[in-house]
Amino acid sequence: MNERDGEEYQEFLRRYPSYASTTALDDLRATEFARLDRLGHVYVDYTGGGLHGESQVRRHMEFLTSSVLGNPHSTNPTSAKATEGVARCRKRVLEFFNADPREYVCIFTANASGALKLVGESYPFDEGDQLLLTFDNHNSVVGIRAFDRVRRATTRYVPVEPPDMRVSGVTLEGFLNEGSESRNKLFAYPAQSNFSGVQHPLEWIEKARALGWDVLLDAAAFVPTNRLDLGRWHPDYVTLSFYKMFGYPTGVGALLARREALMKLHRPWFAGGTISWASVLADSHTLSPGSEGFEDGTLNYTSLPAVELGLDFLDSAGLDRIHERVNTLAGWLMEELAALRHGNGKRVARIYGPLETRGRGGTVAMNLYDPQGNPTDHRKVEERANDWKISLRTGCFCNPGAGELALGLERDEIVGCLVQAGNRMTVDEFRQCVDGKSTGAVRISFGVASTFADALTVLSFFKGFREG
Ligand SMILES: Cc1ncc(COP(=O)(O)O)c(C=O)c1O
Repeated sequence: MNERDGEEYQEFLRRYPSYASTTALDDLRATEFARLDRLGHVYVDYTGGGLHGESQVRRHMEFLTSSVLGNPHSTNPTSAKATEGVARCRKRVLEFFNADPREYVCIFTANASGALKLVGESYPFDEGDQLLLTFDNHNSVVGIRAFDRVRRATTRYVPVEPPDMRVSGVTLEGFLNEGSESRNKLFAYPAQSNFSGVQHPLEWIEKARALGWDVLLDAAAFVPTNRLDLGRWHPDYVTLSFYKMFGYPTGVGALLARREALMKLHRPWFAGGTISWASVLADSHTLSPGSEGFEDGTLNYTSLPAVELGLDFLDSAGLDRIHERVNTLAGWLMEELAALRHGNGKRVARIYGPLETRGRGGTVAMNLYDPQGNPTDHRKVEERANDWKISLRTGCFCNPGAGELALGLERDEIVGCLVQAGNRMTVDEFRQCVDGKSTGAVRISFGVASTFADALTVLSFFKGFREG
């Protein structure tokens, strides 16, 4: 039966009428993503990884089978062809984000983590400097604190407040206003939390920069379903992974950096490709200017043309349309889950993050509870979902701070467990130590190929946890 014939669909449309403006994506589902239905998959882990349309792969293969590409940066014809492809892709990425090439450069990396590492290892932290992070940053941002130089600076965390998991504007302002004496101050936050789906205000960028902060915007979870306009917003550093935006190719990400902010970074080493000159005898090297000075070794030059094709694909699918679709699906699913009750009237699900669709993306994180109010182990939920061929994600999604606050874990109990484990702890040891508490959650995230039928299947799956 076509999903549009169902009563549930009509009821959904009454509540979320703007979904009707996104039906062009159903045609894409039938053509570009037919493999999902052919293989019986319900894919709801788009924050983990996006899916590619079939034409992206086809077009890339056509390009590869009709081109001869050599290692870039030589004048021979095959090298020149590859060099040209890299340059075209850089230009296309900047255009996609409406970034003025006089202001921004595009540095290719292996993924968002690679881009974050570049900033972490090169930002000139020293004693008295500050690293300010929101609690809900991904591990690849939190990890910046572990560089030796950063340890000399002060790292502080702005809390997110459950159950909404947003940051209070007043609290943030307090943090931003402190440390006016510091020479170097880096403020890093996710445009969208990969844990709760909360979208933090992009207005923070201007506010923080006006107070002397350099701003690192981790856009990895935001850009697959939202437009980031770098003509309107001017973060110093932006990090992202392309596979999260359009599934293919994996292994390519980017650091988009303001030219001025890039000058502030000092690379701790050099490599093939990053220098314009080096001497062993004279013990000296000169870093290439701009993006090349940050790209170690040979770029993934056969895959970069596929990045352009992926951006074309997103453009033709329509980012605004995708945004509308994932938001309406997430809004509906949250409402239904929030209303789900056991026979004794107790809630089946507790959602982490705002229940409204404003200022959030298409990600829904939750835990399930039995009629006595005990949490259901998220690993059990995943096992049962696997039987339904539903690809959802469980755990803390590499976002320990958001997880700790959402799940109500206290610093003292975490430190107590750590001491008990001799300062080296596995997740399983931690789970045993905080016996009875959840140490992870369940996450559903929608994307370009999601349909109401997917959301309905997911809801039916969660209804299976009702008792009595
Ligand atoms: C918000 C956010 N930042 C950074 C990353 C790291 O991305 P990658 O694993 O592609 O380096 C992720 C991955 O899930 C993410 O969601």
